[in-house]
Amino acid sequence: MMTNRPRGTNDILPGDVEKWQFIEKTAREVCRRFNTAEVRTPVFEHTELFARGVGETTDIVEKEMYTFQDRGERSLTLRPEGTASAVRAFVESKLYAQPQQPTKLFYIGPMFRYERPQSGRYRQFHQFGVEVLGASDPSVDAEVIALAMTFFTELGLNDITLEINSVGSPESRTNYRDVLRSHLHPVKEELCADCQSRYDRNPMRILDCKVDKCKTLTQGAPEMLDHLTDTDREHFQAVCSYLESFGINYTVNPRMVRGLDYYTQTAFEFIENGSTLSGGGRYNGLVEQLGGPEMPGIGFAVGIERALIALQNQQVELPIAKGIDVFFVALGEAAQQHSVKLLHEMRVAGIVADKDYLGKSMKAQMKAADRLSARQVVILGDDELAQGVANVKDMETGEQITVPLAELIEKVQSNM
Ligand code: HAM
Repeated sequence: MMTNRPRGTNDILPGDVEKWQFIEKTAREVCRRFNTAEVRTPVFEHTELFARGVGETTDIVEKEMYTFQDRGERSLTLRPEGTASAVRAFVESKLYAQPQQPTKLFYIGPMFRYERPQSGRYRQFHQFGVEVLGASDPSVDAEVIALAMTFFTELGLNDITLEINSVGSPESRTNYRDVLRSHLHPVKEELCADCQSRYDRNPMRILDCKVDKCKTLTQGAPEMLDHLTDTDREHFQAVCSYLESFGINYTVNPRMVRGLDYYTQTAFEFIENGSTLSGGGRYNGLVEQLGGPEMPGIGFAVGIERALIALQNQQVELPIAKGIDVFFVALGEAAQQHSVKLLHEMRVAGIVADKDYLGKSMKAQMKAADRLSARQVVILGDDELAQGVANVKDMETGEQITVPLAELIEKVQSNM
């Protein structure tokens, strides 16, 4: 049926949406502590932004973008990630010219990739991402990684591995690519078709290939970390020692390359139960590549769906407020009508309140109060209404008192 939701997308329904709200709230609070401000960019951009920003030879640009022509025949693309957009906004609004640098930004929102859907991989998914632009000091790399770690810890996630590597500056890479090509040259023809094309265009990506044959053929390949320039090596060592000083455990993974082309120097991933929860790294050439001044940057993005899977794996109970303050049980026509107004007044006064709308029996209404985990029930019949009172029942203690209607809100609030 074509009116079903498209493959690879999800509805986030009540019952689940509260978990999303908790994750988003935690992200905002942690960012506030790190003095990182929110940026909201369009969900679609000119296709060229991603082609140039993410890289022409990446899977994202080659195979996964939702690209369409609008009625003005412009080629537009639903954003597959947030970094290119954040950097574009930084350049376009000249945030780089503001006196306070670096600029620390975060975003939360949907991203779109035409991938084969499976658990933890969707066509519309959501990222919480952070980008820090305008500082190249290794302490900033460590701070960005620490922000992500603090976020996971605040969510209640423990068993997470941080893997880091340096993919080097362009200078280190030019040198390393040649070394890698010569090493792989004898087995070039045995690599998968994708890797054969990567051999010429971007040989480092061969190290990241998921095909078993390629994994075997690249065993023992020279590692980037052994071919870094002195500056890149010192940068990497400094990032590692800052992490150690923060008490953040990490594993160096010399084969991590990341799937986007903009990375330079530090690259990292947070892994939970074999799945990548978050990935990021430094991208020192991107601002310039997108038309801005020569300015470094670093960031990461967490897949929110994957964070939810991790929370489930680790059986984390999220502190989500349940229940309502008041449920109105009204019996009789006059009481029913009057309860509409009382209910409204309660809500205006800040009380979380609801009622029955379907003319149900007292028993059914009390059941509804239970189902909604109401902490107090206000019972109003026509007789009570005639006397100007209502009965208020505390659902925890079972205690019931009669209260003048004029004092109802005050009484309910005093018991909240
Ligand atoms: P990425 O590694 O492509 O990096 O994605 C980051 C995270 O988004 C992944 O670790 C994963 O949790 C989630 N993710 C990616 N694709 C999907 C999908 N199809 N379904 C569900 N979750 C997915 C980036 O996007 C970079 N922009 C990160 C970054 C920011 N680097 C520097 N700054």
